[in-house]
Amino acid sequence: MKKILVTGGAGFIGGNFVHYLLSRYPEDKVICVDSLTYAGNLDTLSDVTDNANFGFYKIDITDAVSIDKLFAEVLPDIVVNFAAESHVDRSIEDPGIFLRTNILGVQVLMDACRKYNVSRYHQVSTDEVYGDLPLDKPEMMFTEQTPLHTSSPYSASKASADLLVMAYYRTYKLPVTISRCSNNYGPYHFPEKLIPLMIINALYDKPLPVYGSGANVRDWLYVEDHCAAIDLIIRKGKAGEVYNVGGHNEKKNIDIVKTIVNKLGKSERLITFVKDRAGHDLRYAIDPSKIHAELGWLPRTDFDEGIEKTIEWYINNKPWWEKIINGEYRNYYERMYENR
Ligand code: NAD
Ligand code: DAU
Repeated sequence: MKKILVTGGAGFIGGNFVHYLLSRYPEDKVICVDSLTYAGNLDTLSDVTDNANFGFYKIDITDAVSIDKLFAEVLPDIVVNFAAESHVDRSIEDPGIFLRTNILGVQVLMDACRKYNVSRYHQVSTDEVYGDLPLDKPEMMFTEQTPLHTSSPYSASKASADLLVMAYYRTYKLPVTISRCSNNYGPYHFPEKLIPLMIINALYDKPLPVYGSGANVRDWLYVEDHCAAIDLIIRKGKAGEVYNVGGHNEKKNIDIVKTIVNKLGKSERLITFVKDRAGHDLRYAIDPSKIHAELGWLPRTDFDEGIEKTIEWYINNKPWWEKIINGEYRNYYERMYENR
């Protein structure tokens, strides 16, 4: 039996990871820590709250006193840190909270891991720490050796955290691992990110705001495949190692939007080109050969199947996203898109 502490478990990927663990490891305990920011949603965990192997604590990972108390009580074997401010556009508006949560929060968690002899601290990082690639060199991909070279306050905060994690490995021999994954999509994705925003707007026949020309490329992975990769890394990955995670599934933003429009039987006339994101990364592409060769990981869901499952999930789970849209999200949407 393992006690796995999952931070940020009320968010998109963390929530999927909690479900992933509880459904596959009935002998393990899963303890979720989340401060429930605008992106955290207990509805995402409503079907596991009664599970005897699940516990939830509303704690901010930057609150060292509360984190220490929790570790003393729970004594986790493994900590997987998903908690973060994750939205690039919000980091451009207000970087401060990104530096606090994404860097200082990581320090607080790792200090607790050292004090309570946690056997693995896993940092959920991102391909954005590598910066971007040119659009006209399809052979170029990010490997674990690609230098960190960030573009946004968000990616700079994530890269800073990665450096701190490796510093704790070298200095204190804290048994750490890092995964750097490409763009995820799937159930419980917060409705201000590209794919859920386009599905929901299209369902309402609302304009579909594409930044710039829509030529930017992202490398999309179904969220359950990311969860499987992290699960393998925490159980079989080597301490001190970084693993890139991605499924060789590069798509231009405009093609993603057209796919959604067409699958929903809507008109492409809904597509509206709006002002570009400041410093907008051109292309991400992950080389996942290390995690494949060393841990045997491969993605299982291809994009066509994954996007259909995702669209279906949003159609069938309207109450989940409607509640979000009625709240703070509205203010964000107006601020971001009204004069764009
Ligand atoms: P998300 O924004 O959906 O969820 C983040 C969660 O963290 C929320 O539940 C939020 O309440 C919680 N949180 C934020 N600040 C906190 C704090 N100070 N203390 C405790 N909890 C806090 O994010 P996501 O898309 O699920 O991303 C999860 C992680 O995966 C992030 O670290 C992100 O950098 C990384 N990542 C995301 C993607 C992607 O495509 N979404 C890809 C690669 C890596
Ligand atoms: O690559 C991994 C990263 O993927 C994660 O580290 C981040 O946490 C996650 O948010 C995601 O970052 P992106 O910036 O790539 O995701 P986002 O959904 O915000 O945007 C995807 C692309 O779509 C990007 O090129 C910007 C564009 N876009 C986005 C929105 C919200 C639009 O054209 N219109 C939009 O309205």
